[in-house]
Amino acid sequence: MSLDTKKMEGKLCIVTGAERSVGLEIAKRYLQYGARVVMLDVNPEVEQRAEELEKEGYPAVGMVLDVTEQKYVLEVFEGIIEKYGDVYALVNSAGVADVRPFEDITQEIWERMMKVNVCGTAYCIQGVIGNMKKNKEGRIINFSSKAGKEGSSLMSCYGASKGAVITMTQALAKEFAPYKIHVNCLCPDIIDDTGVWNVVRARYTESLHLGEKEVIELYTNKVPLGRFVSKEDVTDVVMFYTISGDSSTGQAVNVTGGRTMH
Ligand SMILES: NC(=O)c1ccc[n+]([C@@H]2O[C@H](COP(=O)([O-])OP(=O)(O)OC[C@H]3O[C@@H](n4cnc5c(N)ncnc54)[C@H](O)[C@@H]3O)[C@@H](O)[C@H]2O)c1
Repeated sequence: MSLDTKKMEGKLCIVTGAERSVGLEIAKRYLQYGARVVMLDVNPEVEQRAEELEKEGYPAVGMVLDVTEQKYVLEVFEGIIEKYGDVYALVNSAGVADVRPFEDITQEIWERMMKVNVCGTAYCIQGVIGNMKKNKEGRIINFSSKAGKEGSSLMSCYGASKGAVITMTQALAKEFAPYKIHVNCLCPDIIDDTGVWNVVRARYTESLHLGEKEVIELYTNKVPLGRFVSKEDVTDVVMFYTISGDSSTGQAVNVTGGRTMH
């Protein structure tokens, strides 16, 4: 089956965490498929990323947004809808990761993790849901993690936040199904060349006293397909749930090279 990417022409898609890594890759793919994209990120450089894409002829707009401030998030989304029209897809890629022993996780770390990964995802959905309900269509794609399905050592705080994303996705899939709004989430394993991998790799090289090459081997040896997941792999799955997947909602989809099978 090939995706009917023409469906995306002119559609408005909003991607959070779009300054870099996975979010940026998803924004670029939507643009290549003819969509208009609003790229949001707490990092002001998101405006520059969007300008670069605009120079290449793509209808991209970059805006600074901290997804943890509910009032501000709702105002920004209202402004986007007023200016650019109906939203077809929202991808919540903004996230933070942390790797450390359970005993060392401070209140500040717990709160930041929950605020960005759980509350931020919720606030952005609240920002689009009225518009999607009115139109009786929409695709919402959240980012959980392999660590959200099965706890990973030294990632209890991150895993707890990503587990919450799965149950929120399921609840909202049921709540919004009558409006033909599909809500799914992805559960990737380590994705190469991303911020999360940088955090994980730094922690493991430090705590296990291993070189970068050894840490990469340690990880990829656990993956049946023998390699890291790429940003393109993840983006392919996001495109499926945006363009196709007409009978799928409430799913927590593994993108792990076979490392997770449930
Ligand atoms: N990369 C991986 O290995 C991996 C694996 C499983 C799940 N994930 C999840 O996939 C998503 C993307 O991961 P990534 O590796 O591209 O992350 P990344 O760290 O490379 O990029 C995350 C982006 O989110 C932005 N961001 C952080 N806090 C924000 C806030 N408060 N408001 C708005 N933007 C904010 C950052 O500025 C950054 O641009 C995340 O939710 C992550 O938890 C990643």
